[in-house]
Amino acid sequence: MFPVRKLSDHSVPRRCMCVNGPVIIGAGPSGLAVAACLRDRGVPFIVLEQSNCIAPLWQNHTYDRLKLHLTKQFCQLPKLPFPDDFPKYPSKQQFIDYLELYAKHFAINPRFNETVLSARYDETCGLWRVRTVNKCGAETADGNAELEYICQWLVVATGENAETVVPEFEGLSQFGGRVIHSCEYKSGENYRGERVLVVGCGNSGMEVCLDLCHHNAIPFMVVRNSVHVLPREIIGKSTFELAVILMKWLPIWLVDKILLGFAYMVFGDMEKYGLTRPSTGPLELKNTQGKTPVLDIGTVAKIKSGEIKVVPGIKRFSPGKAEFVDGKVIDIDSVIFATGYRSNVPSWLQDSDFFSKNGYPKEPYPNGWRGKAGLYAVGFARRGLPGASMDAVKIAEDIVKQWKEETKQAKQFFACHRRCISQV
Ligand SMILES: Cc1cc2nc3c(=O)[nH]c(=O)nc-3n(C[C@H](O)[C@H](O)[C@H](O)COP(=O)(O)OP(=O)(O)OC[C@H]3O[C@@H](n4cnc5c(N)ncnc54)[C@H](O)[C@@H]3O)c2cc1C
Ligand SMILES: NC(=O)c1ccc[n+]([C@@H]2O[C@H](COP(=O)([O-])OP(=O)(O)OC[C@H]3O[C@@H](n4cnc5c(N)ncnc54)[C@H](OP(=O)(O)O)[C@@H]3O)[C@@H](O)[C@H]2O)c1
Repeated sequence: MFPVRKLSDHSVPRRCMCVNGPVIIGAGPSGLAVAACLRDRGVPFIVLEQSNCIAPLWQNHTYDRLKLHLTKQFCQLPKLPFPDDFPKYPSKQQFIDYLELYAKHFAINPRFNETVLSARYDETCGLWRVRTVNKCGAETADGNAELEYICQWLVVATGENAETVVPEFEGLSQFGGRVIHSCEYKSGENYRGERVLVVGCGNSGMEVCLDLCHHNAIPFMVVRNSVHVLPREIIGKSTFELAVILMKWLPIWLVDKILLGFAYMVFGDMEKYGLTRPSTGPLELKNTQGKTPVLDIGTVAKIKSGEIKVVPGIKRFSPGKAEFVDGKVIDIDSVIFATGYRSNVPSWLQDSDFFSKNGYPKEPYPNGWRGKAGLYAVGFARRGLPGASMDAVKIAEDIVKQWKEETKQAKQFFACHRRCISQV
């Protein structure tokens, strides 16, 4: 039956809004991509965003030197390509400009400052109930900014990077120097001359170290495990693109072997510099454990030249010092935790067996985009922007199909009823 079934008076809270179409939670690239595909097909929606702008991860929580790692054709969102004059690897600012243009082009106007506190499927009425709080108190005069949205479809687009991961270490509170997460790092400008411990060797850790070098700081990079580092380009071609082409013809283990062969030709043996490779190949590891290989844009050369020093796992901190598992102790001025992120879905999505405890859909790629009862997940395939775009297209198609079916029925039987439903 068409979108909103009649709820009993008892089940409707005082401040409640029935939504004609899906509610999309999150106005990052994933949420925008779903919204654009729906707009393109004439399906109404609302987007809820806890921040005060679109793509806050990109606008507020990334460093200045950030460029997209993959070539532009893989990072553009559905239905609107990047401008022709964008370089092969667009900068962070160019990507933000594109997203602003994208939102404008598809008339996507998220409801900003609206944080989803909980979402649950109400079996009785067969609808989703999404409770939010508006941090500006904008919705009400009485200061109670809580609102409940009621909808038939719920699209989770809150991202793989919703919360920072900061491990606990003995003695960190007595360390005394500056301690931040990489999401707060903008540039090495404020670290000139400092000895900086960068914890983590993912793409963030590697690039922060490189940036610190460019600002004459002295980075020490904590590498506690094996890691796959690949050159961003191989013989002038993007490594990612090459992998995509090879995977069309060859099994993944063989593509891994080829990529590792190229990596060896470019970097040589990295073990003597403290970087060992996992026994599983980079693509296989990505597929099985979701671990992203690092795409190198110059860090390896700085490790080889000794400008970036690789250190093992941390044992403890003490005032002005870090001690490592091999017993060595070094003086440091600052610490940057480039220790990654986690999904926040378990903190607000209730009673769903679609997501596992780690906040990712239980079904692995490519089946993790659709749950039951109108629930969808976009951008959780651990496949970056290309993965999010693919999810978005599938989700929108699925909703459009149902929407059309239901509006057809609604037109026939419930035309009057529909006009009574509050629409956003
Ligand atoms: C430093 C960095 C660089 C990256 N570079 C690349 C790259 O070059 N290429 C690539 O493919 N990927 C890259 N990524 C991965 C990145 O996560 C994706 O590109 C992209 O941002 C994912 O989009 P998203 O919309 O799924 O998630 P996000 O961009 O994180 O958007 C999720 C949105 O949901 C909102 N939200 C969360 N919880 C709630 C809530 N409870 N209520 C309301 N709103 C909520 C957030 O505020 C946010 O706006 C990078 C990540 C980082 C951290
Ligand atoms: N230019 C770009 O495109 C770009 C730039 C930055 C980030 N990104 C993307 O953003 C996402 C997040 O990347 P990220 O680098 O921030 O996070 P990440 O890939 O999750 O890497 C986190 C790193 O921290 C390490 N770590 C975690 N806990 C630790 C501990 N207690 N002690 C020592 N090390 C610890 C991890 O090591 P273990 O492996 O041992 O757990 C790993 O090396 C990824 O998808 C990445 O590709 C892209």
